Amino acid sequence: MLKYQFVVHKKYWEDIALTDKVYQAIYAGITKERFENEFDSIFSNLDNTQNAVLLDLGCGIGRIAKFVAPKVKKYIGVDFAYTMVEKAIEYNKDLSNTEFVCSDNLSIIEKESVDIVLTEQVFIHCTKEQQQKYIEEVYQVLKPGGVFVSAIPKFEHYENGLTYEEFNKLFFNFYNKIILNSIQLHTISIKPPINKFNYEKTQKEK
Ligand SMILES: C[S@@+](CC[C@H](N)C(=O)[O-])C[C@H]1O[C@@H](n2cnc3c(N)ncnc32)[C@H](O)[C@@H]1O
Repeated sequence: MLKYQFVVHKKYWEDIALTDKVYQAIYAGITKERFENEFDSIFSNLDNTQNAVLLDLGCGIGRIAKFVAPKVKKYIGVDFAYTMVEKAIEYNKDLSNTEFVCSDNLSIIEKESVDIVLTEQVFIHCTKEQQQKYIEEVYQVLKPGGVFVSAIPKFEHYENGLTYEEFNKLFFNFYNKIILNSIQLHTISIKPPINKFNYEKTQKEK
């Protein structure tokens, strides 16, 4: 079966952010309506999001910031493409609780300081090694009970997709729930203990 190969290098994102094609590149995978519905349903499972620190990994031009920053105490967007970060700052300049950082790793974030990590349409463009590194770093920056909302490329469809064995190995320390079984796995993963999350609505899938 033919598998998609969407892994691209930093220069691609740096260059595309300077053109109008950036909107096509970012909105191609998911419509605004579907995105907002999905995140509304995720947020409805989380307690006390108004006091949460949220990290958006691979924040791009900051479309997610526009939608989620008003729902949380502090929003931090991280992206390795400087031109994306510049666009995100400009696009969200009306939101005072946002901060954008240009980085290809999460060592700039204090350990156990984040309540929610989101990553949307990013891992499909990362190698397995990059995905692995980020999953480990996300675990470190999350507070106990923190939540990782991730879109993971599926093995069946992508060259860089995770097999179930790899997924289970990488997400072993989390409690996982797959929320949308499309060509990407949308997952909610909770760093134990599960006290901040409405566990009634989830199940442990390990
Ligand atoms: C398709 S865009 C998605 C942007 C945003 N998550 C959204 O859904 O609106 C992918 C973004 O991920 C960033 N990115 C890709 N690989 C990355 C990496 N290894 N580290 C940090 N950012 C990365 C790109 O620069 C780009 O801004």
